[in-house]
Amino acid sequence: MARLLIILILTSLFAFPSCSSDEEPLIAVSVFRSDDAFINDVVDWIASESHDGIPVIVGEAENSQDVQNRMISGFLDEGCSSMIINCVDRTAAGLVIEKCRKADVPLVFLNREPLKEDMAKWDRAYYVGARADVCGEMAGEYMAAYWKSHPEADRNGDGILQFVILRGETGHQDSELRTEYFLKALAENGVRIERLGEGSANWQRGEARALMESFLRADDGIEAVFANNDMMALGAIDALKEAGWFDGGQYMPVIGCDGIDEALEAMEQGYLLYTVINDSENQARAAYRIASLLAEGKIPDSASVGYGMDGRYVWIPYREVSTGSISSSRGSRIVTDVPASSSDSIVTP
Ligand code: GAL
Ligand code: CA
Repeated sequence: MARLLIILILTSLFAFPSCSSDEEPLIAVSVFRSDDAFINDVVDWIASESHDGIPVIVGEAENSQDVQNRMISGFLDEGCSSMIINCVDRTAAGLVIEKCRKADVPLVFLNREPLKEDMAKWDRAYYVGARADVCGEMAGEYMAAYWKSHPEADRNGDGILQFVILRGETGHQDSELRTEYFLKALAENGVRIERLGEGSANWQRGEARALMESFLRADDGIEAVFANNDMMALGAIDALKEAGWFDGGQYMPVIGCDGIDEALEAMEQGYLLYTVINDSENQARAAYRIASLLAEGKIPDSASVGYGMDGRYVWIPYREVSTGSISSSRGSRIVTDVPASSSDSIVTP
């Protein structure tokens, strides 16, 4: 029988499928929640990467670090060879590393960067992510260029850009850095700004829509929106459409980040002004390759991983949207029937 690849989206705490096998290595993956568009893209790409390699099993942690900790213990008890962890709470990575170190199961963190002092606890812990400062900078530079070339964007004609920010989760490095460097880029490009509203919508479309509605109720002078990710940008667009924008010449520049398919479509349709591609494919590939090498007892290096390593870190660059971004942005996801005993859904590429 061809090597079996089963990806389980675990929703039950104790429904761990057996992931041990005397000869066969297996990589356990835990993601912070199952309804995050960007993370789902990463999982899809990990699934397609594993097609010709070591099988993976994927669990989702219902946005709870407790659930994730128990899931990781379950994976360790079952004898998995290595792990890819997208931490619910990145400050909990130290405990995760301790657990894995005791069991001698090496791991790769993904997307939610552990604190440096935690990464220092074990030389078999790795991180794959993207430099969020660069994303903020790209978004800020685009906004500045747009502002300069579109005098009509200054709706009240005061020479100041009045805007709102929809932030991701508080404490997530991507929320902090994308916002900070967006503002820096505007300042460096000489754009005078006034922040009319700022708040967290936790990466979520629905929360962003509600927050944007409250911003619109509070102030009718908003001239632009910067959202820390595409889902929140789409939520802001939902609220703006509802309030009559994008109709009859009323245009609001909205910027996001991630380059998920829905955002690229919104860009094509003229709703979203700009997004930056958060490269799910290459982040997934780098994490999977490191986890595979670790599962085989090897020490990953740039040559074997195929990506430049900065110590135990791999940084995947953000990319500009280009023609063809939509068609190349999807991994493969096929949902098949579920064996009653083990989980709510099974995905096999
Ligand atoms: C960010 C991404 C967000 C969300 C978050 C989850 O990099 O832009 O959309 O997926 O990671 O940690
Ligand atoms: Ca203005």
